Amino acid sequence: MNVKTSSLSPLGVYHEGMEWNAVEKVIYERRSIRGFKKEPLSDGMIRRILESGRFSPSAGNMQPWRFIVIKSPEMLAELEKDAVKMAKFFMFFIDYTRGGAIRRLLTKQLAKLSIRFMPNELHVVPFALLSQIAQGKTKVFHGAPTLILLVEDKRGVSCPATDIGICGQNMVLTAHSLGAGTCWIGLIKLCMYYPKWRKKFGIKYPYALNNCLAVGWQKPKADGPVPREAQIVEWYDRGLHDAPRTEKQGG
Ligand SMILES: Cc1cc2nc3c(=O)[nH]c(=O)nc-3n(C[C@H](O)[C@H](O)[C@H](O)COP(=O)(O)O)c2cc1C
Repeated sequence: MNVKTSSLSPLGVYHEGMEWNAVEKVIYERRSIRGFKKEPLSDGMIRRILESGRFSPSAGNMQPWRFIVIKSPEMLAELEKDAVKMAKFFMFFIDYTRGGAIRRLLTKQLAKLSIRFMPNELHVVPFALLSQIAQGKTKVFHGAPTLILLVEDKRGVSCPATDIGICGQNMVLTAHSLGAGTCWIGLIKLCMYYPKWRKKFGIKYPYALNNCLAVGWQKPKADGPVPREAQIVEWYDRGLHDAPRTEKQGG
């Protein structure tokens, strides 16, 4: 799990003297951008970003996606407002870190129950983020002037959610290669509790909202390398019955 900080290691060096190429540089220097300039990217830039999603690989070449671009300032403000309202609603019932002893006791039980049913959504990281949003300490969409919604077609082959992940990351890397910034916004799901948004975006079977990208010009410029958790990788490169060799991946 990359939330650990104890074994962070910098980018490894595997081919002495061989420079990182342009694609690798974008991969290693891309950061999630949480501050954007007000003016949006041009529509041409947004179309270029979308195009790299459209050309992504997908199981059976099913291309199980639909893209929705949101630039309307009124709509962005309404989505932010509704997401915050929903975060507050959830936190009222399950934020066991706040309030008096009796409230904490009750909310802790509710939180435990909710975490059992939604272990990923209420993992400690999004839990902390939700709490910050509910307290007005951070924004859901980070003030981005454009959102790209990634809508998944559930009829895709095998695992359409994987296809969407690949498709979204293609767009992310394209945006950063063009000098723009992005942040995945999984918390867009907060808005999907509202029938009005599901209706507006046509989110009903076979479509489900998978994720969202906040897109815009970086302010401040925040791309740059960071360390990551080292990985112990098993290499099976000897006989069929030999135990794997383990190797640390990471500088
Ligand atoms: C599927 C997915 C959903 C995410 N959702 C959010 C989100 O709702 N809000 C946010 O600020 N960051 C979100 N992030 C960004 C992660 O927090 C970020 O990728 C991680 O901390 C690593 O930092 P880096 O992207 O700068 O390398 C999301 C990332 C992914 C891949």
